[in-house]
Amino acid sequence: MLNTKIEHLKISTEGKDIVEKLKFLSKEFEGKIAFSTSFGQEDQVITDIILKNNINIKIFTLDTGRFFEETYNLWNLTNKKYNTKIKAYFPDKTQVEEMLVNKGPFSFYDSVDNRKECCNIRKVYPLTRALENVDLWITGLRSEQSKARAELQFFEFDEGFNTIKFNPLKDWNLEQTLNYLSENDVPYNLLHDKGFISIGCAPCTRAIKAGEDIRAGRWWWEDQSKKECGLHETHNPNFIIETKKI
Ligand code: ADX
Ligand code: SF4
Repeated sequence: MLNTKIEHLKISTEGKDIVEKLKFLSKEFEGKIAFSTSFGQEDQVITDIILKNNINIKIFTLDTGRFFEETYNLWNLTNKKYNTKIKAYFPDKTQVEEMLVNKGPFSFYDSVDNRKECCNIRKVYPLTRALENVDLWITGLRSEQSKARAELQFFEFDEGFNTIKFNPLKDWNLEQTLNYLSENDVPYNLLHDKGFISIGCAPCTRAIKAGEDIRAGRWWWEDQSKKECGLHETHNPNFIIETKKI
């Protein structure tokens, strides 16, 4: 049933450009389609396409409370430029307070488990709320971003979040992404001019040097293989049941 649905989506969108694909999907999943933005370069491309073309897709961000000031500035600028209100999901205050009291404000540097706990509280659990009534979740993921993302598909089923995921920029390279931003005069995070490529929370992101991997600036103190925050990992299907209780 699910495979048939995904096959139907692949066939129906084949040969369409990105604007047509998003328009088609916004009708196919009316009221149940959402795009998550962290205000990265890819996200700004998708936001521009959705808002410029008045496509009926909810845009939301998971505000971890630890974004860079530059990211908050871009969020503000984006709202103003497109006369919109990007929806925000914030972490549960009791969970954040408990973590801060017990482990302090930089627990994520101490162990992978602590880092995952923080990512779960600040990003993953809020995402389960954001996706509660969503059947199609759009992301800015690209295949070339990491080895783990090399096998990315345009459409895939995310068991953990119980939703179909659509990755419209799957085949775009960084140059194409940057060209789109400059040709369309789309606002971008000013940290990109200071050597930052992939940008997440401030304490967990740093600039990279020429020749370094695109994601080398994320959780740089950890082993390469552990560097996913849980938003885009393949989850145990029970995950959704566990997290939705929270
Ligand atoms: S992460 O998993 O390492 O944090 P990355 O920063 O590469 O992900 O972003 C990939 C995609 O995940 C983005 O294009 C966006 O769709 C989604 N995403 C990541 N972080 C957030 C966030 N804080 N809020 C909303 N969406 C996010
Ligand atoms: Fe916490 Fe860092 Fe994960 Fe942000 S990226 S949620 S600060 S561990």
